[in-house]
Amino acid sequence: MNTDNDSRRALAGRRLVLGLSGGIACYKSAELLRLLVKAGADVQVVMTEGAAQFITPVTMQALSNREVFLSTWDARAPNNMAHINLSREADALLVAPASADFIARLAQGRADDLLSLLCLARPPGLCPLLLAPAMNREMWAHPATQRNVAQVAADGARVLGVGSGEQACGETGDGRMLEPEELLDELVAFFQPKVLAGKTVLITAGPTFEPIDPVRGITNHSSGKMGFAMARAAREAGADVTLVAGPVHLPTPRGVRRIDVQTAQQMYDAVVPRAAAHEIFIATAAVADWRPASASDQKLKKDGSGRCPDIGFAENPDILAAVARLPRPPFCVGFAAESHDLLAHARAKRERKGVPLLVGNLGPATFGRDDNALLLVDANGHAELPEGASQGARADKLALARRLMGEIARRLASETA
Ligand code: CTP
Repeated sequence: MNTDNDSRRALAGRRLVLGLSGGIACYKSAELLRLLVKAGADVQVVMTEGAAQFITPVTMQALSNREVFLSTWDARAPNNMAHINLSREADALLVAPASADFIARLAQGRADDLLSLLCLARPPGLCPLLLAPAMNREMWAHPATQRNVAQVAADGARVLGVGSGEQACGETGDGRMLEPEELLDELVAFFQPKVLAGKTVLITAGPTFEPIDPVRGITNHSSGKMGFAMARAAREAGADVTLVAGPVHLPTPRGVRRIDVQTAQQMYDAVVPRAAAHEIFIATAAVADWRPASASDQKLKKDGSGRCPDIGFAENPDILAAVARLPRPPFCVGFAAESHDLLAHARAKRERKGVPLLVGNLGPATFGRDDNALLLVDANGHAELPEGASQGARADKLALARRLMGEIARRLASETA
């Protein structure tokens, strides 16, 4: 069962139709189906005759645990109307791969096989259509294909992007079907409520690294996972997202603009001039408070005397406070990593930084982990996420980030009302 607190079952309770049209990318659809089922979705597969040349219905039946539909004349449905029943029972219809020919037929409104008939007969408001195109790069670039893609998009289909790179035909370019993990992410994002539609969001994430010399430096245990989850959740919620990331090895969430920095000063320089152009600023980065006052440009060497180098420190600029002090600041959300007395420290920090919302967490219990427990502090009081956090309840960081987007959107709306 899906719980709000577990993003791995992000499609629990969702009923999907996965359509396959003919193309070599069909082999990826088996893996996609496995991922959809693992994410909790109930998936009905429909294949064209062409698709069944590339991968057998037996494979798709075994992975979906359901008989596959192949033909308009399939008599299994008591009313003999599989094309009507299937879309009425589904929350979305994803065609992956969508071949050039299949998209062309959709653009013309043709219905000469079960899958295109199903696309035409679905109620668009109840069963949205998503297409994952897959074809040779010349076919993708052809004006006829681009015209058809524009037409089906104008008719309401959501055309997911294509990948770029080496193709099954041996050529290199645009037109590959997105990878199964990317398609899963697209589908999960599609179902998220668009609470930040059209908003611009700037986020900091990860630790900073303050060099002592060319081979050493000061940093902290922040993994960047919470900040990257916030960026992904903001994007899923419909925002335009820029992520300023300290040194972490995490993949950039799909559709997010990323700027990599190392030091607190670089993060400040990347954030402060951009902040006024954003409606929301979320500071999840664990910024180093101090840096070595003067980094050596050569490696510091032991001199044999047993004396340690004398490293003086200078304080780093406070990025969040600087943004909150702008004449027309974005809606600012701070994070506080504390080791004890979370509520008292979070309240004090909110006041000190001058931000409307501060999210507290216990540093040792969050750094590097996939789950977390949060305390939201604003002018009206405080609340736990997930509920029962003070009794030990935790939730994974992406699930928390999604819920935080709702909290931020609500506060932003009441501030601008
Ligand atoms: N922050 C920032 N720039 C800094 C320090 C902190 O933008 N130089 C932001 C963090 O991203 C976070 C919030 O301020 O959103 C609080 O960070 P935290 O490290 O918990 O607090 P500090 O300001 O460092 O205070 P203290 O060291 O007293 O806990």
